[in-house]
Amino acid sequence: MTGRNRLPLLVHRLNELVSWCDGFDSRLHRKMQEEDLFEITPLFVANHEAKERTIVNQGGTSSGKTYCIMQILFLMGIERAGRVMTVVGQDIPNLKRGAYRDAKTILNSSEKLRHTYPDINESDRVIRCTNGSLIEFTSYKDAQDAKNGKRDVLFVNEANGIPYDIFWQLDMRTREKVFIDYNPSARFWVHEHVIGRQEVRLIISDHRKNPFLSRQEHEKIERIEDDELWKVYARGMTGRIMGLVYNNWDIVDELPDESEWKLSAYGLDFGFVNDDTAMEHVVLAHGELWLDEEIYETGLLNTQIAERAKDAGLTDRQTIIADNAEMKSIAELNGLGLHVIPCVKGAGSIINGIDILKRYKLHITRRSVGIRREVVNYKWKIDKATGEPTNVPVDAFNHGLDAVRYVALKHLNVHKEARGLTRRN
Ligand SMILES: Nc1ncnc2c1ncn2[C@@H]1O[C@H](COP(=O)(O)OP(=O)(O)OP(=O)(O)O)[C@@H](O)[C@H]1O
Ligand SMILES: [Mg+2]
Repeated sequence: MTGRNRLPLLVHRLNELVSWCDGFDSRLHRKMQEEDLFEITPLFVANHEAKERTIVNQGGTSSGKTYCIMQILFLMGIERAGRVMTVVGQDIPNLKRGAYRDAKTILNSSEKLRHTYPDINESDRVIRCTNGSLIEFTSYKDAQDAKNGKRDVLFVNEANGIPYDIFWQLDMRTREKVFIDYNPSARFWVHEHVIGRQEVRLIISDHRKNPFLSRQEHEKIERIEDDELWKVYARGMTGRIMGLVYNNWDIVDELPDESEWKLSAYGLDFGFVNDDTAMEHVVLAHGELWLDEEIYETGLLNTQIAERAKDAGLTDRQTIIADNAEMKSIAELNGLGLHVIPCVKGAGSIINGIDILKRYKLHITRRSVGIRREVVNYKWKIDKATGEPTNVPVDAFNHGLDAVRYVALKHLNVHKEARGLTRRN
């Protein structure tokens, strides 16, 4: 069977065809390569072939949803001059870590595409094609705000972070095509109001057919130990994540004024290949905790962590409390001009740290996208017999939260706080 013959089958049964990727060689694939634009995945083909007005991409993590939708937008811009395309996210920090970042990666990987889209306006986040087409990346504060402007193509990135009334206004003002992507951690408006309607195609995908992930990345996703999280993030099936550890948080625009800080310290959790290195600024003010993320990234060497920390304004005058499992890294960072001390761990320190953090209201700054993703996924293990949450957390979605916990254990633990050790002068 040739690649071309297989194509319709692929479109309909994308999710079952796990091993198909290896022999992937469609006409479209060759065309993209010949034109030197980009490499594509089966998910790209499924989206590209879908003729419906609305294409819903539900999927596990790293299946390539955002990447392939951005590729399609670039193509649509080239295909017809003057097309206006809007990519919408919950807020700008989320877009910068999601669709906007993917768009820039795609541009940077093809010289030809970069020449076709030579104009990137970083402050407005608009990418312009030589033929007058453009892709704008934006977020809307409410439905009224979303009434501004019209477009030909709409891409709603991580749609479960966007209220239905905003989507409705945007959809009404879109002339041709709507793409939606999300991880289905719970049912939301797309399930009630979009899927199942006429002119809507649902494509469910997961990481197994993304040939651009390393073996370690695939394995990391498959290894997710919690059934519900695995269902959502490894298989893209709609879940109902229960037993979240933290419910005591909200999102704020920024930290309170420094004059109001009663405590300021940084927590650092080391990651490398698969896990993110997370550095979180923890501030106590008005009896509540404020969390602001400075670093959340994989692949960082200690020298790069030090660089990032210094870029964020840290010197050896601020204390960073780091995972004590990595004493060598701690020593190295101290040698690089920071003041890093090991956290205190011990029997019960995870639960103890969580207990401390649950006593406070946690205000998380909007830009802290890593820890924001963690709080909506960090959960207690579920007792298989009773279906009830246990008091043991699942060891996932906890890098930024661990960093915060190190600060809590060191500085907010009741005895020390009573002795006033953590107070600033
Ligand atoms: N066509 C491609 N060419 C090169 N790399 C790709 C391609 N498609 C996907 N990737 C790689 O796979 C990674 C994951 O893709 P992407 O971010 O689109 O996944 P996603 O399904 O949107 O994940 P999430 O649900 O977590 O947002 C990308 O960061 C990129 O490195
Ligand atoms: Mg994505």
